[in-house]
Amino acid sequence: MTERELVDLYIKFFESKDHKRIPGASIIPENDSTILFTPAGMQPLVPYLLGEKHPQGKRLVDVQKCIRTGDIEEVGDATHLTFFRMLGNWSLGGYFKKEAIQWSWEFLTGKEWLGFDPEKISVTVFAGEGDIPADHEAAKIWMSAGVPKERIYSFGMKDNWWGPTGATGPCGPDTEMFLDTGKEPCCEECKPGCSCGKYFEVWNDVFMEYRKTEAGTYEPLEQKNVDTGMGVERTVAMLGGYKTVYEIGVLKPLIKRIRELAAIEEEEPTRSERVIADHIRSTTHILGDDQGVVPSNVDQGYVLRRLIRLAIRHGMKLDIPKSFLGELATMVIETEGEEYPELARNKALILDELEREEKLFGETLQSGMKQFNKMLPNLLKNPNKIIAGRLAFKLYDTFGFPVELTADLADENGMTVDMDGYHKAFDKHRELSKQGAEKKFKGGLADNSEMVTKLHTATHLLHAALRKVLGDSVKQKGSNITAERLRFDFLYPEKMTDEQKKEVEALVNSAINDKVSIEMLEMHPDEAEKLGALGFFKDKYGDVVKVYTIGEYSTEICGGPHVENTSELGRFRIASEKSSSRGVRRIKAVIE
Ligand code: SER
Repeated sequence: MTERELVDLYIKFFESKDHKRIPGASIIPENDSTILFTPAGMQPLVPYLLGEKHPQGKRLVDVQKCIRTGDIEEVGDATHLTFFRMLGNWSLGGYFKKEAIQWSWEFLTGKEWLGFDPEKISVTVFAGEGDIPADHEAAKIWMSAGVPKERIYSFGMKDNWWGPTGATGPCGPDTEMFLDTGKEPCCEECKPGCSCGKYFEVWNDVFMEYRKTEAGTYEPLEQKNVDTGMGVERTVAMLGGYKTVYEIGVLKPLIKRIRELAAIEEEEPTRSERVIADHIRSTTHILGDDQGVVPSNVDQGYVLRRLIRLAIRHGMKLDIPKSFLGELATMVIETEGEEYPELARNKALILDELEREEKLFGETLQSGMKQFNKMLPNLLKNPNKIIAGRLAFKLYDTFGFPVELTADLADENGMTVDMDGYHKAFDKHRELSKQGAEKKFKGGLADNSEMVTKLHTATHLLHAALRKVLGDSVKQKGSNITAERLRFDFLYPEKMTDEQKKEVEALVNSAINDKVSIEMLEMHPDEAEKLGALGFFKDKYGDVVKVYTIGEYSTEICGGPHVENTSELGRFRIASEKSSSRGVRRIKAVIE
């Protein structure tokens, strides 16, 4: 079964259970500052999981492109990818554990569906932890579906609890489904969840009954939801009887081409070829998203830069003699461009940025090398012939010089790098930036806080005002809201003048002073387009969308939530306006 066939079958199955198909969202979260990338199908649905009404109803199904870099170190094994696709079915305050589990079982084992051998399936359920009780109900439902007790395992929060994706938000116990690959168990303790490769996790049903608060406690949610996620790549690999995800879809031809480029002859796969294949796919999708970002030193741009550089670095390890990113990205665009037309639309940008980054990294390596040579005489004086970890980290942090290269150079000069010290320095840095990020992300949309809602409405007013002042060529590129400010990226080629900024502020403030109430109507996207509502009108919408109208000021397609009346907003002020990437301007604004 191909990936496309699996997606179609899954959607068909859940449509037969009265679910409405909704389109997947961007890989860059919109109006949500709690995370950098969409890590799961549930993320774009957070407002609805917290109680906002969804225009398509209570039962939804979709396939979502996801990026997860949390376990980037694992990439290269049989199953971990930084870019993957997730199928999901949702109940927003509708059905709960019984239907979710029964349908999962039916889809996995039903002959007209995936038809997996029931004997090969094991499941895990939540064992209970702290004040939160064990999920005996889920275990019972599995047993009545036909899973014997010995293949139902119970684990604590570390394994059987999902969410929130940011610091706060919806979460709950989950039940995960694993397929036995038939491999010998690695040890006596080998169970589903073991990393030896015997068990492939293919699906996860999360019972979102709680909300994690800022205080770190779990409060029961009024609306109980189901959030499920089935990994497309893993499931297709299992259906095909493959041992790894690199034998399916676009990954297979990528691996083949990388092996040709590197003239690899031995049968055994190398970790480097897998890392390159995965990272080039994820970077192509990040650059090619309509909300796409370009490499930089902060946030998403930083992650993107890291992925590109790791791919180049692994190319060097394999001695690939020429630049190869563009060629491999073109393969991804050709294979996945039909399903994700944004890749084809943004092809020139993708290839341009990869070429630029390849060149820049070449320069970084040269300057890192220079720094290293400068340090060398002193380093050689050290009788232990050990390079301190913090020095290696400095080379990495300041000059982007990868530690593996420092280690290679050290080796050439008869020295070693204190890798423990390097990792310590690295972890310390990561802890600091994590604390920074948590602070920064506190109060994002996942909190549905009042300020975030206000800023969301202000964003619509700003968007409309920009089009009035700068013209209709202004198009939203991205939006990100924290409890402190809104950030709005839009296509516009020039710096705004002070007069233009004042005019935009005045327009937004006059909408606020006019005390306009905000109306929401649900309609077909075609009708919304006829109404002149702002939106992407490409391939993003389902059959029904919500259109928010703010009097004469703004009409825009949006999921919400918004304030009821503009008078709730206070005074709007543009705090900064600058370039975000080529052709894109970035405004940060506050309400006071
Ligand atoms: N959110 C859950 C996961 O990512 C289920 O979709 O596994």
